[in-house]
Amino acid sequence: MGRGYTLLFVLVTFLVLVAAVTAQGNSVSNRGGGRRPRVGFYGNRCRNVESIVRSVVKSHVQSNPANAPGLLRMHFHDCFVRGCDASILLAGNTSERTAGPNRSLRGFEVIEEAKTRLELACPRTVSCADILTLATRDAVVLSGGQSWKVPLGRLDGRISQASDVNLPGPSDPVSKQKQDFAAKTLNTLDLVTLVGGHTIGTAGCGLVRGRFFNFNGTGQPDPSIDPSFVPLIQARCPQTGGTRVELDAGSVDRFDTSFLRNVRSSRVVLQSDLVLWKDTETRVIIERLLGLRRPSLRFGTEFGKSMVKMSLIEVKTGSDGEIRRVCSAIN
Ligand code: HEM
Repeated sequence: MGRGYTLLFVLVTFLVLVAAVTAQGNSVSNRGGGRRPRVGFYGNRCRNVESIVRSVVKSHVQSNPANAPGLLRMHFHDCFVRGCDASILLAGNTSERTAGPNRSLRGFEVIEEAKTRLELACPRTVSCADILTLATRDAVVLSGGQSWKVPLGRLDGRISQASDVNLPGPSDPVSKQKQDFAAKTLNTLDLVTLVGGHTIGTAGCGLVRGRFFNFNGTGQPDPSIDPSFVPLIQARCPQTGGTRVELDAGSVDRFDTSFLRNVRSSRVVLQSDLVLWKDTETRVIIERLLGLRRPSLRFGTEFGKSMVKMSLIEVKTGSDGEIRRVCSAIN
């Protein structure tokens, strides 16, 4: 009889311990309402998720290098409006895509193709928000940038409204840029580092022309711009005609520190980029990222760190999200 009680006691203790360990495991993985993004999230549920996205991005960037900056900017525009939830990908007459700053976005078909291939490999498993995040990392690496590990497990949002789009603009002073980034939990180092993403890609002449021909109605170029740079841009974006111009003159397809050097030399086309050299705090960060001031920072490493932070802005992990079947429409 006594032995029977001992056995029962051991069995009950064992079951209680198992229950406690399981409960703790669940509370860790479920924190935040459903799932919390982490590296390796899909595991066995979709073994090839990273290689499938990479191969789609590779073929699109090889056939058109403009897709790399296109994806990077799209990810930024997604995360800053309703969080990184692929709301930027939803089609519709009044969706985010239709808002002014989003009309020049490129690379939608890259994400849609990756989604189609992932639905065949692992149906209803990988979110469009995760695909966009992975594709952005791959685009940077294909452009020569340093790689980083991408936490996965975001869900896709169900709401996308042009009226929610309130992104930083090319005439914003540094104070406004800092404020907009701080509102998204990003500090000034993140701001400068992420704007360093302008090392690839182009801007429409319409956004640039005014400062190179008639700055603030003076009939003259912005005096802050290096005078030897002015005629080069005037030739690319004449008073009439011209299409797009490089954000990083001389190194538009290479993900490197050349853009930050151009900011230092006042040889950049966007006013919001040029003023980063005028503010003491942002200037010091540029000097550190260029290795001109101690403690120096490595741009490649910092970019990955700041991208992970940006990619976790207001992510959806619970009943507010879903795994879309196609990226352009809610289920
Ligand atoms: C203060 C913040 C920012 C401002 C004011 C800004 C503004 C702009 C503007 C005006 C353009 C040109 C768009 C066009 O004419 O089509 C542009 C392009 C671009 N931006 Fe930003 N941006 C900011 C931050 C960022 C961030 C955080 C990233 C990514 C991490 C980013 C990545 C890009 C890329 C890659 C392009 C080139 C797009 C292409 O070639 O298709 N930008 N940005």
